[in-house]
Amino acid sequence: MAREFHKVGVVGLGTMGAGIVEVFARSGLTVLAVEKDDTALARGRAHLEGSVARGVERGKLTTEEQAALLDRVSFGTDLSVMADVDLVVEAVPEQLDLKREVFNKLGSICKPETILASNTSSLSITEIAVSTDRPGKVVGMHFFNPAPVMKLVEVIRTVVTE
Ligand SMILES: NC(=O)c1ccc[n+]([C@@H]2O[C@H](COP(=O)([O-])OP(=O)(O)OC[C@H]3O[C@@H](n4cnc5c(N)ncnc54)[C@H](O)[C@@H]3O)[C@@H](O)[C@H]2O)c1
Repeated sequence: MAREFHKVGVVGLGTMGAGIVEVFARSGLTVLAVEKDDTALARGRAHLEGSVARGVERGKLTTEEQAALLDRVSFGTDLSVMADVDLVVEAVPEQLDLKREVFNKLGSICKPETILASNTSSLSITEIAVSTDRPGKVVGMHFFNPAPVMKLVEVIRTVVTE
């Protein structure tokens, strides 16, 4: 049942989302990063670029690796770019209605095999999953803060997760 992910999406580029984008891009994945508007997008992008630049200052990556990492990330404010990603991680604020709305849209945009994941800390993955067309492909993927540093991700399944 192993699946390979090549192209992944992240929705919401706040404290967690920007860090999750960095983790994926550092691992060689192509990342589509989506925010709710241009102002939030600029803030999230600056967060990512600042964090990666600090990595260079600390000798953790070279300027070539920095450029390659940032090259793998595309930014936008339209969820429709998620049509052909293999995995999406949602990292919008901790509000059930908002997350359900995002998952509902992702269900109609993403290809049927795309895995939809939430970074929620405390909400029910089942309640989020039933707002999509594919509850069986929904999981929790809970990164810890700061995501680029913490080597731990909690994966949460529901009774219907495939
Ligand atoms: N902060 C933590 O320490 C931490 C740790 C683990 C998990 N979490 C969870 O991660 C999630 C995000 O938390 P955070 O601290 O990064 O929040 P945050 O407020 O820093 O970031 C949320 C981002 O989502 C964006 N957003 C809002 N609506 C959106 C939409 N419709 N489409 C796209 N983007 C949208 C906001 O503009 C904001 O940039 C929450 O579910 C939280 O419980 C947080």
